[in-house]
Formats: sequence, C-alpha cells, structure tokens
Amino acid sequence: MFNGFDPQVYRLYLTAFSFIIALILARMAIIEWHRNNRVTYKYLALGFGIMLIKIVAETTVSLYALWSSQTSYSIAVPLINHLLRTAGYIYIAAAFVTVKASFSSRFIRSNFIALFTLTASVCLAWYFEGAAFSFGFWGDLLFQVWNLGLLVFTVLTVSRFNLSIKRGLIIATSLLIIKHGIQVYNLFHPGEPSPFLLAVIPSLVVIYFYLMISTLHRKIISDLLASDQEKNRIREKGHQDALRALINSLEAKDIYTRGHSDRVTEYAMVIGQKLGLPEEDLAKLYYGAILHDIGKIGISEGILNNPLSLCHDDFNCIKKHPEIGATIVSSIDSLKNIGPSILYHHERYDGSGYPMGLRGKEIPLHSRIIAIADALDAMSSKRIYRIPFTEEKAIQELIAGAGTQFDPELVKVLMDAFNIKQSSTGSAVSRSA
Ligand SMILES: [Fe+2]
Repeated sequence: MFNGFDPQVYRLYLTAFSFIIALILARMAIIEWHRNNRVTYKYLALGFGIMLIKIVAETTVSLYALWSSQTSYSIAVPLINHLLRTAGYIYIAAAFVTVKASFSSRFIRSNFIALFTLTASVCLAWYFEGAAFSFGFWGDLLFQVWNLGLLVFTVLTVSRFNLSIKRGLIIATSLLIIKHGIQVYNLFHPGEPSPFLLAVIPSLVVIYFYLMISTLHRKIISDLLASDQEKNRIREKGHQDALRALINSLEAKDIYTRGHSDRVTEYAMVIGQKLGLPEEDLAKLYYGAILHDIGKIGISEGILNNPLSLCHDDFNCIKKHPEIGATIVSSIDSLKNIGPSILYHHERYDGSGYPMGLRGKEIPLHSRIIAIADALDAMSSKRIYRIPFTEEKAIQELIAGAGTQFDPELVKVLMDAFNIKQSSTGSAVSRSA
C-alpha cells in the first residue's frame, strides 16, 4: 500500500503547509504591531518571522537532497535550523507572557540560554551520529527529545503567567507535544508508518495551527476592546473636564453660587435614584443639573453679584438665563438633549414660572427635579441677601411650596429619600439617622 511512499516528500508537504500558516500568523502579527505598537505583537512578528526563515531553510535543504546526489550534511544545517526554531519558539512564548520588555524576565532569559546550549549539544550529537538525512536512532531520539523540551518550556512559560488566552495556548502547544511523543514512539517501532499515524500527525499540526490562529485572533479582539474602552475613558474625561471648565467659569463670575451646581446635582441625583430612573436618564439628569445655571455666563457680573439692588429690568435680564443656557448646550452635540431640562428649570408647578409658564406635568420631569434641588440648595446656602435656612426650615419651605411651586410627588420622593416624616400640619418633624 505504501510502496513508493517517500517520507521526504511527505515531510515537504507538511513543511509547505506550515509555511503558509506561519506566513498568515506573521502577517497578522505585523499588522497588529503597526496598528498597536505593542511589544507583544513585535515579539510575535519576530517569532513567526523566524519560523518562516527556518521553514524556508529546511525546505531548501530538503529539495536539494531530493534532486541532487549530494548526501553530505554540514553541521551548519541542523545547527542553524534548530537555533532558528529555538529563537522562534522563545519569541512566541515571550510575546504571550509579557506586556513590558520580555527579556527583562529572568525566567525567560535563563531558559533562553539553557535552550540554546541544549540546541548546540543536540546538533553536535546529531552530527557525530550520522550524515545526510539518516542520523541513526540516537540522533533522531535526541532531536525529538529536544523538540519536546522546547514545547514543554513553552507550556511552562505560558502557564506561569496570568493570561486570558492561556488555555488556548496550552492546548495548542500540548498537541505538538503529543505529535512529538508519537514520533518518539515510532522510533522504538521502526518500519513502514501506519495509515493511522500518517493521518494523525498532520491532523495534530492542523489543529495546532487552527488553535494558534484563533488564540491570536482572540488576543487581537480583546486588545481592540481594551483600547476602545481606554479611548472612551479618555473621551469621557475630556468631556468632564470641559464641563468643569464651564462650571468654573460661571462660578468665577457669580461668587454667591460657588459650589451650587455640584450640590444641586447631588440633590437631583438623590431624587432621580429614588425614582429608579434608568442609567441613561440619570446621566441626562446629571448633565442637566450641573449645567442648569450655565446661562448666567451671559448675564453681566454687576447684576449677578448685586441681588439687593436689582431693578425690574435686571430681574428680567436674569430670567433670560434658562434660554441662554439651553442655547449654549444646543450647540454641543453630546449635550443637545439636556436643553429642555435647563430651559424649564424655573417653571412652577402652578404655571406661574418662566420662561413659558408651563404647568404640572407639562414641565419636563428633569426640570421639575432640578427645580426642587435648586430651591433646596438656594435656601440652605449662604446668600448676601439672607442667612441660610436650617435644613428643617428649608424642607418646610419645600413642603409649603408643594403643588404651587414644586411637583408634590417629587417633594414626597425627596422626603422619602432623606427619611423625613411629615406632621399632620405639614411641617417636617423628624429625620431618622
Ligand atoms: Fe437658575
């Protein structure tokens, strides 16, 4: 059945297959290296690149031996071949176990030296054992043992590190250990190879490469996701910083409301959370609350800081700040949808507010929440025209304004959130710890 079977031709087919896969892997690694500039991909590209050079060298020698009568085999051929293989494996292992410079790891460095020493010893032993492609039993055995050592080193190195893709790498490399284990077994049972083994060995190689590619692919995807998250975090930080700069510029102008935006946001979030608003709504409420008075940037400092001497025109001027604020945020893409929260935060529940005189539930929910939070902080903070109310007095004012100035249901929600009980006369009577 296997008359005419030439192990060298069989080996050439396997080598050609390995070349194509190593080419794909090297290409993937180079693309990612250029895109991410990460040391992991640099070492992977080096590892698979060295494997490619090794395979080309091996194929050239095999072809030369097949089509020429040349049988002498220089020590340089196996030595170079195995040194390249060793370097390739070590670079690949190093790529997966390192985030920083891999060769700073003493573990990898010491194994690197040990493996190169072993490689040189194996090649010397091989050389003295025989010539051409027939190295004799001990030469072949040493070669297989050396291969096994290299693979076990890879598994041990990978398993020492906390990698998300560890399992894929260990399973893939273990398949090669099985392949070389079978080859060692074959050495002790010489003769024509069985069809079973002829099928098993390339199958193991195919599965190994499949697992390597899918593992590398998974690593690339997880890196992409991580870099997306990082970009989002930086974008969000930039967004927050820009908001903070806006708030700071308002507070630099309006000295009596310093810290007011932050406290209003805090109260508004308490109400929003108590209402069980979804995350997306809470984020919208947060931005609406922190920017509710941003329109005051457009009001002159003389008016903002002299509340005692405001004339009718000045009051009308201040009343423009919700519209100015809504116009400011409408020009910012990511804040467009909070315009209504800002525009209507001075509307009153009974319809006597401004700018539109909306009443009841016509006023957007977020504006009704901000109105309560705004009043609570305004009453309990120091202002030039009056001393701050005590907390109880401020709550009593909110209760008194429920149904006229404020949404009564939301006032109740705030009291529940603060664990405040209401007496039959309507005043706030107790607050538990
Ligand atoms: Fe306001």
